[in-house]
Formats: sequence, C-alpha cells, structure tokens
Amino acid sequence: MFTSLQIRQIFLDFFQKKGHRLVPSSSLIPADPTVLFTSAGMQQFIPYLSGEIKPPYQRACSIQKCFRTSDIINVGDNFHHTFFEMLGNWSFNDYFKEEAITFALELLIKHYHLSIDRLWITIFQGEGDIDSDQKTKQIWQRHGIPIEHIKEFGMADNFWGPVGASGPCGPCSEIHYDCGIEDCQQKCDLSHCGPNCHCGRFVEIWNLVFMEYFCSPNKKYTSLPVKNIDTGAGLERLTAILQNKQSDYQTDLWKPIMDKINELAIIDYSINPRAHRIIADHLRAIVFLIADGVLPSKEDKGYVLRRLIRRLIRHARLIELVDQSIFVLIQLIVDKFSIIYPELKQQQEEIQVIVEKEIIKFRRALEKGLKQFNQIRQQLINQQKNKLSGEQVFHLYDTYGFPLEMTKELAQEKGLTINEVDFEKEVEKHQRISRAGAKKKFGGLGIATITDKTIKQEITCLHTAMHLLQQSLRIVLGTEIHQMGSDINSERLRFDFNYPDKLTEEQKQAVVKLVNQQIKNNLSVIIEKMTYQNAIESGALGFFKEKYPAEVKVYSIGQFSREICAGPHAQQTSELGEFKIISEKSSGAGVRRIKAVLE
Ligand code: SER
Repeated sequence: MFTSLQIRQIFLDFFQKKGHRLVPSSSLIPADPTVLFTSAGMQQFIPYLSGEIKPPYQRACSIQKCFRTSDIINVGDNFHHTFFEMLGNWSFNDYFKEEAITFALELLIKHYHLSIDRLWITIFQGEGDIDSDQKTKQIWQRHGIPIEHIKEFGMADNFWGPVGASGPCGPCSEIHYDCGIEDCQQKCDLSHCGPNCHCGRFVEIWNLVFMEYFCSPNKKYTSLPVKNIDTGAGLERLTAILQNKQSDYQTDLWKPIMDKINELAIIDYSINPRAHRIIADHLRAIVFLIADGVLPSKEDKGYVLRRLIRRLIRHARLIELVDQSIFVLIQLIVDKFSIIYPELKQQQEEIQVIVEKEIIKFRRALEKGLKQFNQIRQQLINQQKNKLSGEQVFHLYDTYGFPLEMTKELAQEKGLTINEVDFEKEVEKHQRISRAGAKKKFGGLGIATITDKTIKQEITCLHTAMHLLQQSLRIVLGTEIHQMGSDINSERLRFDFNYPDKLTEEQKQAVVKLVNQQIKNNLSVIIEKMTYQNAIESGALGFFKEKYPAEVKVYSIGQFSREICAGPHAQQTSELGEFKIISEKSSGAGVRRIKAVLE
C-alpha cells in the first residue's frame, strides 16, 4: 500500500520523466486581489493558458495548496474539505487530449496499480454553441474503457472554468473510481447508477480539462489562440482510493490528527464523527491560511478565516475539546505537513498566537450568543413558528459574531430554518449606514473601509514600496523574478517571490539601495487605464493574475517600474520614507519571503 508521501512522489516523478517542469505550489493568496483564494492548480498559470504570456516551459506539474469554501457545508462527510492539495499536470499549447488521457491512464494503471475495470469516465455532451466531445470518447474507448463506462454530461458537470468572471476554460473529462456496489448507500437501480450519482459508490479522482476557449465576462465563448491541458486530482481522494479507505479521514494524511482529536476530546468520534472531522478539516485549513499570511478580520479573506475559527470553536465545544487541546493539534498539523510545506514550521508561533487571540475573543461571545439563540428558539416555539427572522439572524451575527452558516447549522440541528434573504437585506442596510464609499480592494485589504487616515497613508506607501521592491529584485536577481503572494498591514509589507536560494547580504543591500534611490529621486506615480493586452505590450508587469477586468490600471513609478495594479498608491516616492528589509526567508520550495518596513 502506498503512503501519501509515495503517492506524491510517484506523481511528480512520472510527469517529470514525461518532460514536465516541477513548479512549486503558489500561495493560497493569489496575486490577483479580486480573487480571494487559490482554489485550483491552474491559477498561477492563467496568463500561459490564455496565451497572453509565452510560457517559459511547455509542460508543468505541481502539487498545489487549494482552499475552497464552496463545499464547506459538506465538510464532515467522507470526501469534502476546505483546504486540500491538488495534483496537476499542464500542457501549454503542447500535447492535447490524446496524450493527456494516455498519461493519466498510464499513471493510474501502471504506477498506482488501479484496475482499469474500476474506472468510469465522464465526457462533455455538448451544450449551447459548444459541441459534444466525441473525440475524447473515442480516445477512451481506444484505450480500453468500455462504452458502458463512459457517460455524458452537460456544462454543469463537464465544462470547467473560468475561475472568475472571465478567463480560459473548456470541456473536461473526469475519471471516476467505482468503489463497488457495497459502497452504495441508496440501494440504487444499478442500470442508472454511475459517475455523479451521489450514493457513495463513485468517487471523482481526476479532472482533465481541455482548455480551448476563453469566456468573456458576458459569457461569450471564443476559441483560444492556444490549446492547453489543465488537470487536477485531489490528493486526499486519490490517497483514500489507493489506501483502500472509505473516507479521506482514514488515510495517513488524516489518521494521526483524527486519533489525536479522539484522544483529547471527551465526546468520542463514534458519537459525533462530523464534529471530529470538521475540527480536523478546519484546523488544517486555518494553519495553512495563516502560514500564507491571512489574518482574521471583518472582511474578505480575513473573515473567511475568522468564520473557520469560530466554526471550529463551536464544534470543539460540542465534543468537549478544550483550548489547550486545539494548540496541541495545531502543533501536530504543523509537524506533519512541514515536511512538504516548510513555511508552516517558520510560522508556527504566529499561527498559535493568532488562533489563541481569536479563541479568547470569541469564547465569551459564543456562550452569550448561544443563550440568546436558545431564547429566540423558545420564543419561536411559543409562537408555533420555526423560522428565525433576518433581524434575529443579523442580531446574532452583529452582536455575538455568529457567522451566517453557524446560525444556519445551529437552527438545522434544532429543526429550524432561517430567513437568509432578509438577513442579507439587514447586512446591506447596515453596510449602507456604516460604510460609505467604494469597495476598492487593495493588497488583501479593503482600503476604502479603513477610516484611520494615518493607517491608510502607511498602507498606501508600503504598497508603493512593494512595486519598487519587485523591480529592484528583478534588477538584482534576474527578470524571471515575480510576485507569488503579498500581504500588507499598517506596519510592514510582505512579499513572496520565486527564487531558489537565500539572498546574500550583498544582494539584499543592493535591493535596499535601489529602492531607496528611487525614493530619494522623488519619482512621480502615474496611473493610466488601458486593456490588459495593451498594458502587457507596453511593458507593464502583470504576472499570474487569475482574471482581469476589461480595463486595467497601470501604475508607473518614474521610468523605474510599471505594473498592472488596483492601487491606491502614493503620488510621489518621497512620501515613502526609508525602506528597510527586516527579514528574508524561505516560504516554501523555490519561494522566498521578504518582510520590509518604511521608517
Ligand atoms: N482546474 C481543474 C479543476 O480544478 C483541473 O485542475 O478541477
């Protein structure tokens, strides 16, 4: 039986032998501030997939850290997670369907030793202007997949992307694994049961996307100038199949964590398996998000993190898991996964401190909020009603910090429902009152919502300095350097970039000197608006953005730097003060992280 470490290695070795460049996972925080999280392996390659930038290699493979909230409600079942790892291989206008399918089958059958009889395939049946993918069906058949094992589905199941409102996309073909009829939990009519049946018998293990279209924001599909392959296989699911387990949580990726939760909690796994699994899933996601620089806050990424922590605390309460045990579990997760992701070890203290602060903040509110919830419930019973009003849900959210899904879950547990539509109206009403102004996104922070002028100015200056830093790094280390993630608070900037080695003292000094020279030269910051294409052609940097609006803003700092960005920025570099690097360290394989301040 393969361990998960072997499963990773076999995948990467296989594709490297087939001429693929091994690319490190990018951060969970994508470079594009309009997309919250990295949710698929392809995101860091979007400019290559869309043909906007000529890729430096034509084949790539990676194991990408991904985070999705779309399945959060299903977390607790056998196979759904918020954070997961995605194995993937890519062809940028190189091989296409034939080779992608040949590679996938060769790996699954010859290297992972899966039986071809257990594999079922889905293909795109055609919808709208896009034809049915009969070519793919023929390829699978030629490779020995019987026609009865090939099923056709429409856009909802077999067409992938774009990640945001627009971008590269295409029909896909999924490989599903038949766990056997004994896993069917719904006594299905066997003549109808197959992939995408939710009875538990079939598990999707690999998605092969044939990226040949570009979807515009108004949902028009045009052919891409290049034909690409984008594939993704969830490591957790594949491991469950290869280790012959009924659930991801029984694999070696999760088992030590599950065992520890069971050892530390008063309420046993057998009594509340869902809470045990939610705690394991959320805590792992929390650790990875914080390690990549997400901080709990009231909005955007930070609020997603806060919701995860609050959900974790409530479920910990359900199984009587004390706070101290949560810290033990964090340490276990850090130790277990830092073999692959060394950034966890480097951030372990920060992770513990941040989670602890959040727990302290929420514990009391949770107890009070639960009391309030019980009162509301009693009122509803007295009135013979079973639905919490939008106002009541908003009160729990606003006064006690109960995220919407927490109240929904609590209500469900007591056989109640909630009025979500009215809740949203309450939120909007509240937002209108408390925060006027546009919702401009900036470096992961909604700067328009920051009212303190000094903080706003500090963040603005640090962001401008980040542009100078990126260009200086490119001058000192080489033009292949580009941003892989960033985060700014009012005290410091943090910038992740691709570079394999520790920077020498001389390199760091050269970078600092270059940045400070530009500050001293008092360069003007100029904004221009143009199409993405024109921006790139005019020499603006715009790497690894997942989606672009029709018109982008290009910020030029004198002749020194030119970047596509959402702003806002200082007007003159003299506003910035003196630039200093406070730390430079690794942030994952092939990625360095600089923290810097302005004094
Ligand atoms: N982008 C596709 C997915 O996320 C394949 O990697 O499923």
